[in-house]
Amino acid sequence: MALDPTTFMTTMEKRMDFSAADKASLKANAAWGSSIALQMAEVFYGYLARDPEMNEILNAKEGRMHRLNETFIEWFGEMFTGMDNWGSAYAARRWRIGLVHVQIGIGPQHVVPAMATVVNEVGKQLKAAGLPEELRDSLGRICMIDLAFIEQAYVEVSSAAVLRETGWTEGLFKRMIATGASSMK
Ligand code: HEM
Repeated sequence: MALDPTTFMTTMEKRMDFSAADKASLKANAAWGSSIALQMAEVFYGYLARDPEMNEILNAKEGRMHRLNETFIEWFGEMFTGMDNWGSAYAARRWRIGLVHVQIGIGPQHVVPAMATVVNEVGKQLKAAGLPEELRDSLGRICMIDLAFIEQAYVEVSSAAVLRETGWTEGLFKRMIATGASSMK
């Protein structure tokens, strides 16, 4: 069941219609992306800090917030540059980010609204800078691909842990999930 990040990236690109035009548009606006990254980080962590549960996670370790500001700015910039043209280095980095969040116990209920905050804020910034709607669409697509990596990491890590601990086959596990879901109210 182990996920291959590069294959997952290719699948997501197709599914999201993340095209060569999107990539060109992002690359062409990479300098603008860098120029707003710090402001984006402030809005992002301001949003997380207003939620008591997430604020506790953010401040659970000395120096975490400082580190996070830096990693967010890096992450934000990488969406525009694509690192290796959104190739295997990009995919491996996104997979790693997913695993870090799974390890800390940050779930879909935290990550989905957080990514929505990024998309909304970047939309506002784009409008203020007079940049085209197409760039907003391209950013929306790559944000959703990044989000899919974090969400998928949950499924992969949880399933792998159960299979490892129990020795069940994947088929049995899937049947048990289907039965469990149909009996849940
Ligand atoms: C849009 C969604 C998010 C993005 C793009 C994002 C981005 C990142 C990145 C790039 C890292 C560094 C990963 C590494 O060390 O390799 C990270 C770590 C982390 N993130 Fe997020 N994050 C998101 C959502 C959240 C949420 C909702 C929380 C909740 C509090 C959170 C808390 C953390 C924490 C605690 C770490 C580890 C910090 C440390 O090094 O101690 N993140 N995140």
